[in-house]
Amino acid sequence: MTSYRLHDKEQTGQHLRASADALNKRLESESDRSGRAVMGQFTTPSEAASSIVEILDLTDASQYRIVDAGAGAGALMLSLVAQAIETGVTARLVIDMVERDDAALRLLDEAVGVARAAGELHGVELDLNIIDADFLDVGAWVQRPYDIAVMNPPYSKLGQHAAARTMVHRNTGVECPNLYAAFMATALIVLVDGGQLAAITPRSFANGRYFLPLRRFLAGGSAFRHVVLFDRRDRIFRSSSVLQETVIFRLDKSATPDAHGVVVETRVDHQTPAHDIHEVPQSMIVSLEDPDRFINLPGNTEVMAVAARVRSYNETLGSLGLSVSTGPVVGFRATEYLTTAEDPAAVPLIYPNNVQPEGVCWPVKRAKAQGYVRTAESARRLFPNGHYVVVKRFTSKEERRRVVAAVYEPIDGFEEVAFENHVNVIHCNREPIPRGVAEEIADYLNSDDVDVYFRMFSGNTQVNATDLRRLHVPLTAPLSREPVPGHNEGNGSLFGHEVAGW
Ligand SMILES: C[S@@+](CC[C@H](N)C(=O)[O-])C[C@H]1O[C@@H](n2cnc3c(N)ncnc32)[C@H](O)[C@@H]1O
Repeated sequence: MTSYRLHDKEQTGQHLRASADALNKRLESESDRSGRAVMGQFTTPSEAASSIVEILDLTDASQYRIVDAGAGAGALMLSLVAQAIETGVTARLVIDMVERDDAALRLLDEAVGVARAAGELHGVELDLNIIDADFLDVGAWVQRPYDIAVMNPPYSKLGQHAAARTMVHRNTGVECPNLYAAFMATALIVLVDGGQLAAITPRSFANGRYFLPLRRFLAGGSAFRHVVLFDRRDRIFRSSSVLQETVIFRLDKSATPDAHGVVVETRVDHQTPAHDIHEVPQSMIVSLEDPDRFINLPGNTEVMAVAARVRSYNETLGSLGLSVSTGPVVGFRATEYLTTAEDPAAVPLIYPNNVQPEGVCWPVKRAKAQGYVRTAESARRLFPNGHYVVVKRFTSKEERRRVVAAVYEPIDGFEEVAFENHVNVIHCNREPIPRGVAEEIADYLNSDDVDVYFRMFSGNTQVNATDLRRLHVPLTAPLSREPVPGHNEGNGSLFGHEVAGW
């Protein structure tokens, strides 16, 4: 009898998940691709939805008030009900599904019918409500705070003056550069103290500069409890060809920061079980001493060991007096200055293509214009010819390493050099740095440790100047300090100050 009931529950769970996938498919076929992009309608496959709901704690209370933010065709609600049936949840589940797209609202109606029938069959008490509203406009629909929020939020950029951005800023005090951040901040304000937010989102909020207000908000009033990382970035939303690096997490509101560890698990993709699972101290994920509040997500204990080693170095590029700037020559704005390497009026122009394993090579064939015409106007974007470290700002997905660096050796016959905007350049007050220091830095940046360390906080292939500036380096200023031949020692010293505005 018992095994029959268990089998029954599993079958119902499977039926609910299959219904979710079928409803998702219908939602995606009803809206065209551009419409889906506008509404952010990239629905959650049922396996990923299960990973989101299974990290929730539904064992403590007799009732949970749950909000499904941007409910789509009901994938998260259906997975939640499946999970409740399969694990024998005894609490009453009140689930409010907030959605504002007509096609999604129609399908949600069907999803509710399927879920209600399953709940009745297995004695799970459900109170399911569809709310036709803008989730961000909390004043218009929130009646009482929630114990749980679940979401796969829409993600598109929010310009400085976007109405949604202004509204969320007014409600939460957080400047959100993207809709998914706006959904996260809003969810946290509708939760009770101790409430849980389980979500799947892009990883870009972990270190991006524009997400600092969100990170401060999160660090000030919530703590991670569980994080699911994926090795393969392109698998989850394959049906909609979304190429985002995603993360699943549970955040608890107002949890005391270091009261408990954070479970971090890594899977190849959402269809495979975890191949690594470990507990990480809260302070390792977000350090309150870090002014940027980066969110570090170490996938295994080796990553933690590397992080401990990197952090044990006392200096950072910034503390050594080195500056990191994105190359100031923006190709499409500087077309009148772009020329060939042979042009006698040109200085070398360094692109990512010039950054090669053996160092910066110039000129290279089949690349963009290799020369930059020096004029009185363009000269302010030039650096004196000397040693620098050049780091690609973007690496392709195929490239083995996130950080790819090379030393720029001064090229004979030129007084100056230009760096294009797709590279970062490490310099000292816009002056060259000593050759030995440049070599040490480039070797270090190309090391396994730096690669592992970067992946811990960066979910994309972009290497920002901020990321580099704050990186701990195994250099000590007095040891590495050497004279720079032919250059002003005062300005070129490792102890100079960063040039404002660069
Ligand atoms: C990425 S989809 C996720 C749908 C569903 N939760 C899932 O996991 O499959 C985001 C959903 O949010 C809805 N949405 C976008 N902006 C919204 C808003 N301001 N208020 C309510 N829903 C919104 C979209 O229509 C879409 O259905």
